[in-house]
Amino acid sequence: MDVVLVGLPGSGKSAVGRRLAQRHGTRLVDLDELIVADAGQTIAEIFAGEGEPGFRVRERAAVDALGPPDRSDGVARVIATGGGAVVDPGNRWRLYRGRLPVWLDARPEVLAQRLRRSPHERPLIAGRDPIGAVRSLAAARERFYAAAPRVNSVSEVAAVVEGVERLCASGPGPATTLLRAQTRIGRFVIGDGIAASALVAELAGLGAARAVVVSEPGAWAACGERIAAAVAESGLRVETITLPRGEDAKRLSVIEGAARELARLRVERSEPLVAIGGGALGDAAGFLAATYLRGVPIVHVPTTLVAQIDSSIGGKTAVDLPEGKNLVGAFHQPEAVIIDVGLLATLPVRERRAALAEAVKMAVLGDERLFALLERDGEAIAGGDEAAFASGAVAELVERAAWAKVEVVAADERETGADGGRITLNLGHSFGHAVEAAAGYGDLRHGEAVAYGLRAATRIGLELGLTPPDRAERIGALLSRLGLAGGRLPCPPADVRAALAADKKHAGGRLRWVLPDEAGVVVRPDVPDEVVERAIEGLLATTAEGVAT
Ligand SMILES: NC(=O)c1ccc[n+]([C@@H]2O[C@H](COP(=O)([O-])OP(=O)(O)OC[C@H]3O[C@@H](n4cnc5c(N)ncnc54)[C@H](O)[C@@H]3O)[C@@H](O)[C@H]2O)c1
Repeated sequence: MDVVLVGLPGSGKSAVGRRLAQRHGTRLVDLDELIVADAGQTIAEIFAGEGEPGFRVRERAAVDALGPPDRSDGVARVIATGGGAVVDPGNRWRLYRGRLPVWLDARPEVLAQRLRRSPHERPLIAGRDPIGAVRSLAAARERFYAAAPRVNSVSEVAAVVEGVERLCASGPGPATTLLRAQTRIGRFVIGDGIAASALVAELAGLGAARAVVVSEPGAWAACGERIAAAVAESGLRVETITLPRGEDAKRLSVIEGAARELARLRVERSEPLVAIGGGALGDAAGFLAATYLRGVPIVHVPTTLVAQIDSSIGGKTAVDLPEGKNLVGAFHQPEAVIIDVGLLATLPVRERRAALAEAVKMAVLGDERLFALLERDGEAIAGGDEAAFASGAVAELVERAAWAKVEVVAADERETGADGGRITLNLGHSFGHAVEAAAGYGDLRHGEAVAYGLRAATRIGLELGLTPPDRAERIGALLSRLGLAGGRLPCPPADVRAALAADKKHAGGRLRWVLPDEAGVVVRPDVPDEVVERAIEGLLATTAEGVAT
């Protein structure tokens, strides 16, 4: 097997790596040394000449050059990474998958002291207060290191090596954990093939005596039953409550039935529910958890792309009324969200494609790397292309979009913040909701409606001089490439106007429009009705290639 040592600068990756390699008669592959040898310059010189981006390109090439993991028994190669190598999701996928990553961890104070004594120059630390610099690196990177099992690296090298060797005894498992974070809106674990093992660990951490699973027939057949069986195998009793499939789960009468089931099972205040399903199931199970006994803990295992990058994050739970969607709900943050990208393989193409509209939204909010990823791999991801899963493209898309939402919500949980907060997540949604309402919440997927909303917001932004023409064209081209909102509006324009007017009235007469600008979005409360009207008309005028913008 390959052992990959990760951790902050000064955590001892090279020293521990050398000793470990020596003990197993193998060699240490030090990525930084490879980069230096290849460039014929020191790391400080590369940073000075090419900047951090230039260094990262070289780093990616060095990770690629490792080739496939060595799957033989015993320690075959020891790989020491630069502290920042695992920030890039693509590098992390290649370094963690099929290999045994180990996090060498120590407190920033200890690391700062070691760095002061180190003869190596560290460009990201040089010239700064070392403790402050190490702390800010730790805050930015810990979620990537924490995906790997941790060994305390404060001890002597020999003891740290022993700790790593203990982990080697079990080798790399079939699952790959890519990110693990504790946030104020719950714990997040992202990975591939992790659902069952991460759920078992989470329930153990919560001290659960049994697993009370809420699911629905589609998710259950695709993966829920398998996950529940693994939980049962771990020794926990599993109780299952099945809600109807899709939007039918989001009814008060369904919640009543499920709550009565919980009462019959004598579920107590501290017992966590486990929601296994897509956004509809998660919204309903979340509302059940928010209200049963005035609130019980919940762990989400989202099984659709919408749920993994959007609905399971942020604590909004809701059910529908005949008068409208999501009219009754509550904020209820989950204990944990376990995001297993492998579960998306069975999702119908249309579901994956529609959900990509939410990923486009997150990219437009300001993630250029996500934008480029969607342009390059979006079609393959929508189509469920195996290569898109194997290359790590699906994992990177999910991580980027999901984490961006975590950060926005953690900063402005109740949407009370200024215009840069949670409100920005409404990009494409004012218009998208109107399209959904006008289409009668029938066959149209939420993401398909949001895609029309993104086109409308772009047209409005363009007309108001906020969205530069080349950016508008790029957003439109990406949506077209993904097969989203490429045709005429799927509902009568008069109904869209009526739904927008109703929303405006509901919002006190001022709809706050989120509109793309040069590299992100701006919020405008003052978009004239005639500008919105022209956007509607534009979306009705199809060309041979589909809708122009
Ligand atoms: N709370 C929020 O912040 C938030 C955000 C966005 C959307 N939502 C809500 O999410 C809902 C839409 O979510 P959705 O698109 O996930 O729909 P969904 O939950 O209805 O799932 C779509 C379909 O996929 C099936 N399915 C689920 N997992 C599967 C798997 N792994 N393989 C194969 N099939 C699978 C389901 O059975 C269902 O038929 C809407 O109700 C919307 O209001 C909520």
